[in-house]
Amino acid sequence: LFAQPCRFFFAAQRIDQLPPPALPEIAFAGRSNVGKSSLINGLTGHKALARASSTPGRTKQLNFFELGGRLTLVDMPGYGYAEAAKAVKEDWQGLMFDFLRGRPTLQRVVLLLDSRVEIKKTDTDAMALLDRAAVIFQLVLTKADAVKPPKLAAKQAEVEALARRHPAAHPEVLTTSSETGAGMPELRAALAALAEP
Ligand code: GTP
Ligand code: MG
Repeated sequence: LFAQPCRFFFAAQRIDQLPPPALPEIAFAGRSNVGKSSLINGLTGHKALARASSTPGRTKQLNFFELGGRLTLVDMPGYGYAEAAKAVKEDWQGLMFDFLRGRPTLQRVVLLLDSRVEIKKTDTDAMALLDRAAVIFQLVLTKADAVKPPKLAAKQAEVEALARRHPAAHPEVLTTSSETGAGMPELRAALAALAEP
């Protein structure tokens, strides 16, 4: 599936502007700068399909990408970005949370956590929201290239323990790097299983 062409087809700035529900959708969520846009590029083998940036708060809309006519990937704005203007932040975080709560075609959320960074309350708040909305989420560690293997293994064990405490969390926690491609085949396989046949 991930060898198929992937194209950007819609950007939504407001919850009443979403594209009509059609293909199964996978949304990529997580703190600002965690690597959501980079992961979409890594999974689909594109360099700049989703716009990534070292400036946190880069993605401010819901960006929809169609993959092989069988799956939609949704790049979401990040949460937890302290420096954004309050009104702007509330707008884009509200958009993200409304989407996660109410989208009928949403099959799964890939919730990203930075391998180098402590898990924050905003992360566990997002998990609690997904529990309440009964949306299955898979925790994925990003930037695995930036952490030594023993530290990465400890982090993975910590996140697996966290997944066991959340009813909507998928038990498997993957470690990935968009820089080296580590973990991409495993994540592609997990997501391809959710696509339209
Ligand atoms: P927002 O749209 O602001 O919420 O951010 P995002 O989660 O989409 O992050 P983005 O993909 O824009 O990446 C943020 C920064 O992290 C960029 O400088 C990327 O180059 C860097 N980055 C992303 N993935 C990796 C990775 O696997 N390894 C390393 N070392 N850096 C990465
Ligand atoms: Mg982004």
